[in-house]
Amino acid sequence: MKVLVIGAGNMGLTYAEAISKSELLQNNQLMILDTDAEKIKQLRKQKNFEVFDSLKSCVPKADIIFVAVKPYHSEDLFAEMKSMVNAEQVFVSIMAGVSIKFMQESMGVTKVVRAMPNLPAQVGKGVTSYTASEEVSRLELLTVENLLNTTGKTVRLDTENDIDASTGISGSGPAYIFYFMQSMIEAALKMGFSEHDSKVLVGQTFEGAVELFNSNNLSPNSWMDRVASKGGTTRAALDSMEDNNVKEMIKEAAYAAFNRAVELGKETV
Ligand SMILES: NC(=O)c1ccc[n+]([C@@H]2O[C@H](COP(=O)([O-])OP(=O)(O)OC[C@H]3O[C@@H](n4cnc5c(N)ncnc54)[C@H](OP(=O)(O)O)[C@@H]3O)[C@@H](O)[C@H]2O)c1
Repeated sequence: MKVLVIGAGNMGLTYAEAISKSELLQNNQLMILDTDAEKIKQLRKQKNFEVFDSLKSCVPKADIIFVAVKPYHSEDLFAEMKSMVNAEQVFVSIMAGVSIKFMQESMGVTKVVRAMPNLPAQVGKGVTSYTASEEVSRLELLTVENLLNTTGKTVRLDTENDIDASTGISGSGPAYIFYFMQSMIEAALKMGFSEHDSKVLVGQTFEGAVELFNSNNLSPNSWMDRVASKGGTTRAALDSMEDNNVKEMIKEAAYAAFNRAVELGKETV
C-alpha cells in the first residue's frame, strides 16, 4: 500500500510525520507532495518519506491520497488530478468546507473520506471527525481510521452536516480553550503574578483538570461539585459565571462556528 499526502503545510506535514513515526508504513510507502521548492528541499533532507514536486509522478502510484491544501486551491488541484486518478483510490480530504460530492464530481472518483482534524494533532493529541462515501469499503475505512489515529483519536460520523457540527466543537474548539486560558492569564497578571508564573498556574491547571476529566466517567458538573463547596471560593467564581450567562455564551459561540462551517461549505462548492 502507498499513501500520498498532497500539501506539506501545517496539517499535511503533521499527518505525514505522525504516520511515519507510527511505523504503520515503511518510509518508501509514504509520499508527500508540495509546490514550494524550499519546502521540498528541506523535506528531502529528512528522508522520512518520498518527496515529490509534481502530481503526475506520485498520484498514479498512490492507493490512499490525503488532500491537505487550502480549500481555495482544491478546484484547480482536482482539475489537474482528474486525468491521473483511478476508481480504486481512496481520497481523504481534511479541507474545511469541501464536500464529498464536489470531490467526486471534480475528479470523477467515488471513494472519498471527509475528515475534520484539529490543531492538537501536531502533538499527537488531536481529534479527527470523519465520514465517508458509501463506496469506501469497511476495510479501506479501517485503514484510513488507523492512519488518522496516528495524530490522536477519531470519531466516525454519519453525515457531512455532523462534520460541520464537529467543526464547532473540536475543530475550532482549541481556540475556545485558548480564549479561556488567556482570560485566566490576564486575571493572574492583574493580581500581580509574573508572566512566567501566570503561565505555569494556568497551563498546569488546565492540564490537571483535563487529566482528571479523562481519568474516569465523572461529568464536568460532578467535578465542579468536588472542587466547589457551599460558601467557598470556587462557588463564588462559578456563581459569577452563571450570573453572567457564560455557559450560554459558550454554547452560542460553538453554534456560530457550526453555522459558519455550513456557510463556508456553500461558498466553496
Ligand atoms: N490548520 C488547522 O488547524 C486545520 C484544522 C482543520 C482543517 N484544516 C485544513 O487543512 C488544510 C491545510 O491547512 P494548513 O493550515 O495545513 O495549510 P498550509 O499550511 O497553507 O498548507 C498547505 C500546503 O499545500 C501546498 N499546496 C498548495 N497547492 C498545492 C498543490 N496544488 N499541490 C501540492 N501542494 C500544494 C501549499 O503550498 P503554498 O504555501 O506554496 O501554497 C502549502 O504548503 C486546509 O484545507 C484546512 O481547511 C486545517
